[in-house]
Amino acid sequence: MENAREKTAAVVLAAGKGKRMNSDIPKQYMMLREKPVIYYALKAFEDSFIDEIILVTEQGEEAYCREEIVERYHFTKVRKIVPGGAERYFSVANGLEAVSEDCAYIFIHDGARPFVTEEILQTALETVRVHHACVAAMPVKDTIKIADENDFAVSTPRRDRVWMMQTPQVFSADLIKNAYRMLLEKEEELRESGVQITDDAMVVETLLAHPVKLFRASYENIKLTTPEDLLLADGILEKRV
Ligand code: CTP
Ligand code: MG
Repeated sequence: MENAREKTAAVVLAAGKGKRMNSDIPKQYMMLREKPVIYYALKAFEDSFIDEIILVTEQGEEAYCREEIVERYHFTKVRKIVPGGAERYFSVANGLEAVSEDCAYIFIHDGARPFVTEEILQTALETVRVHHACVAAMPVKDTIKIADENDFAVSTPRRDRVWMMQTPQVFSADLIKNAYRMLLEKEEELRESGVQITDDAMVVETLLAHPVKLFRASYENIKLTTPEDLLLADGILEKRV
């Protein structure tokens, strides 16, 4: 079946509380130019080659998501809306469980990252076909320092080797499902030893020791994390319309 196009799924995460945004409503549902933040990422996947979307939301928000987002904006590829968990990795694990068995590649994406483009998705697909695990990323612009617990600089990694991780983080389906199964088995042990799992590549690196390829995405592919990111987002949107 060399020529058959492999099926692809996107797991879009919208189950976080957005504490660093300091907003009354979770940041993925805040309005950005009259549309909720989550709309933009869903729209990019809807308009792309992706075959199905699993939307992960906070338990109890499923009906809101279905009515106010999926139905309202006619997202036909959202196949399931599933509840997330207390940590991002629990939300991802739930999302992965809901992906159709016949999907070959899974794109994991932050719902709070609105400016992913078709070009980024294409690059991700080409890269995952070769490497089985890849992450949208960009080289850092500032010098990075490792500090001790009292905020004294300890060391300085060479800047041309330091990258900021973005999403999508894209994997062969079997590989990422295995990695997350192992994570759930070892979760308590890892937590107790102080390991903080903040992205999907880390799960693959830590539990499978499988190489993860970084590919250049875009400095515009920002995650909305703190209030000033909203100003940046508004500027990026203004340029695009
Ligand atoms: N996320 C999730 N489930 C969680 C935590 C995070 O689905 N338990 C999602 C968020 O909704 C977001 C993405 O993961 O789209 C990236 O996480 P982050 O920027 O850390 O979002 P929050 O956890 O919501 O924000 P904060 O850490 O400031 O509370
Ligand atoms: Mg968080």
